[in-house]
Amino acid sequence: MSKVDSKEVGLIAGLHVFNFFIGTKDLHFGYWRDDMQVCIQNLPEAQKNYTNFLLSHIPEGVKRILDVGCGAGGVATELLAHGYHVEGVSPSPLLSEAAQKQAGEGFKIHHGRFEDLDIEGGDKFDLVLFSESFQYISLDTVFERAKQYLRPGGHVLICDFFKINAPGHTVIGGGHRFNEFAEALEGSGLEVIEDKDITRETAPNLDVVQQMEGDLFLPIFNLIGYTMSHNYPLLSKFLRWRYRKKIDKLYRKYTAGDRSSANFMKFKVYRLYLLRLPEQ
Ligand SMILES: C[S@@+](CC[C@H](N)C(=O)[O-])C[C@H]1O[C@@H](n2cnc3c(N)ncnc32)[C@H](O)[C@@H]1O
Repeated sequence: MSKVDSKEVGLIAGLHVFNFFIGTKDLHFGYWRDDMQVCIQNLPEAQKNYTNFLLSHIPEGVKRILDVGCGAGGVATELLAHGYHVEGVSPSPLLSEAAQKQAGEGFKIHHGRFEDLDIEGGDKFDLVLFSESFQYISLDTVFERAKQYLRPGGHVLICDFFKINAPGHTVIGGGHRFNEFAEALEGSGLEVIEDKDITRETAPNLDVVQQMEGDLFLPIFNLIGYTMSHNYPLLSKFLRWRYRKKIDKLYRKYTAGDRSSANFMKFKVYRLYLLRLPEQ
């Protein structure tokens, strides 16, 4: 039996928690306008702003979109509602199921990683979209693969964050190194049509997640520990001894206050890129 990817498990767990508490089925950051209060209750609105921001960068004339890493299908649902023909790519069976349910039976999903995608025949796409999925795909092949599915003059739209070189260390994970991305882009033969920095507008997401970890997850985690040590002292001692390193690491990660918007802005950059494949 194949192992389950812990990042995917994190995404699906997040999907259930956020869907249950605030009714959002989106797996991407929010776009926080200056006038918005940064709190969990406003996350759905911020995520909707993000989707609108994304959609506002789709060039005129685009009809067929390949949504790479379509998550739980939130963006695809919106694209379909705007009349686009959308096909998704999803390596996660659980997320594919959620996406199919949300976007409907008409949404065609190619199961598997983008790196292994093999669409035989069929029309080319006008746009290949990477909404916060770009960071999961190898820089060595991502542009070549995207070009393979694009018609001449077609576009690539990337909205995602990258790591920048900054002194110090952060536990905020994810993102390709920006200089390596820039190098791969330079050699890709794709033309840069738009390049927008939305780090400031997306960074507040970290504060929301940190609030939730501190005010919800940590007290529950501590309560479980407290109950275990009183009601099952031997089992509790054994588990603490057996998983000491993992527990300490998790505890440090969620209590250090490192996962903040300030640190996101220090160590990451969030960019939207609209790229174009030249006609010839
Ligand atoms: C943060 S979620 C973004 C989901 C969605 N695009 C959105 O904007 O809400 C990242 C997505 O990338 C997908 N993914 C991870 N590795 C991938 C790969 N190698 N090829 C294609 N998709 C991948 C995950 O399954 C997940 O759907």
